[in-house]
Amino acid sequence: MAYLAGLESRAVAPTANAVARLERLGGPLSEDGETPARVIEQLDEFGSPATVASAGGRYFGFVVGSALPAALAANWLAGSWNQNVTLEVLSPVGVRLERTALGWVQELLGLPAAAQGAFVTGATMANFTALAAARHAVLAQAGWDVESNGLFGAPPVTVVVGEEAHVTLLKALAMLGLGRDRVLRVPTDDQGRMRAELLPELAGPAIVCCQSGSVNSGAFDPVAEISARAHRAGAWVHVDGAFGLWAYAAPARRHLTAGAESADSWATDGHKWLNVPYDSGMVFVRERRHLRAAMSGAGAASYLPLSENGEPAEFAPELSRRARGVDAWAALKSLGRRGVAELVERSCRHAGRLAEQLRNGGCLILNDVELNQVLVSFGSDERTRRVTAAVQDDGTCWCGGTVWKGTAAMRISVSSWATTEEDVDRSAAAILRAAAA
Ligand SMILES: Cc1ncc(COP(=O)(O)O)c(C=O)c1O
Repeated sequence: MAYLAGLESRAVAPTANAVARLERLGGPLSEDGETPARVIEQLDEFGSPATVASAGGRYFGFVVGSALPAALAANWLAGSWNQNVTLEVLSPVGVRLERTALGWVQELLGLPAAAQGAFVTGATMANFTALAAARHAVLAQAGWDVESNGLFGAPPVTVVVGEEAHVTLLKALAMLGLGRDRVLRVPTDDQGRMRAELLPELAGPAIVCCQSGSVNSGAFDPVAEISARAHRAGAWVHVDGAFGLWAYAAPARRHLTAGAESADSWATDGHKWLNVPYDSGMVFVRERRHLRAAMSGAGAASYLPLSENGEPAEFAPELSRRARGVDAWAALKSLGRRGVAELVERSCRHAGRLAEQLRNGGCLILNDVELNQVLVSFGSDERTRRVTAAVQDDGTCWCGGTVWKGTAAMRISVSSWATTEEDVDRSAAAILRAAAA
């Protein structure tokens, strides 16, 4: 509680001195150990000051959510429970809360009710899991059992991505043996949206990967058009919607996700816009049999009692894992539909307000701010990098850097429930001060 209360007054990035004092948490392992209270005291004394204050309201780096109070407390309780959600028999409560939370998320994101969901560590693993289901389905259609035989001798799979696909989608493809560099890349427009008319002709096993919410501009691929064309060719359509899919929950932003529901699989995060503690990702697959076929394998062990209806371990990569659904359930239960809509809408409003203040202060906003992402240029690449570094040193807020369409930019991502208008105004003033200096 003391740590959370201190977030308001401290610098967002830790001081160099705080980071140097982490030395005190190293050293050789003691012979006899220490009392639990002493252990926690040291964590707080040396660990807390060296954290990045991303749990507060003025952290705008990467795409980082905070933790809603109910979700954080649920996380502590779930830690005490220490449940393993491999199987229903191991944790009836963990499995029930996961299923309930997944169902609520499915509804909030406008995904088909019959889709099968699973909790994973984040959108990287959600992409991996969904694409494993895709790989299974398109190769099964071609008469190849990839789970049994691997990819050696398999028919080639065409994989299509947009030029602005997130790096973790490519990593997932690499981990699945589908290759990071052999993908066909579709050019994007000035906002980073895939140009549907440039989708290549598809034939044979094929997977098309769309994005709902670019990590830089927040832009959405035109999924309706892309999936109509891809489906005509029998291809699988996947949507990486790590944070962008949540726009569906806010009526005024819903149009941005148009067509996402027509895909075959979706990846999203709880730990970004839903403000659930790390690590919380979710995968959904339209036809559960494909996800189950791709993720099963545990059934071979006679000591693991599987059920007709499917156990959590049959839909996710891990066997043992913590009950991630508890935190997500608590976040959703505390917010309700209206609360989720308001959280998404408020973040977008804050992003718009920040962009407006920076524009009025003479900065160049490089993207259409329709979601929660803002890209800012302060003139030359060199100057933009220097201003970004100065903002980070100042400590009022934290924004990262990127390269957008060949130009250096400062990235602002408003994803925290804790951000207030006052945080936005203080941050805009700090950024403008750094630019002026
Ligand atoms: C579009 C997109 N996909 C995937 C990811 C990876 O998510 P995670 O860090 O939860 O694995 C991100 C992270 O920012 C993202 O923005």
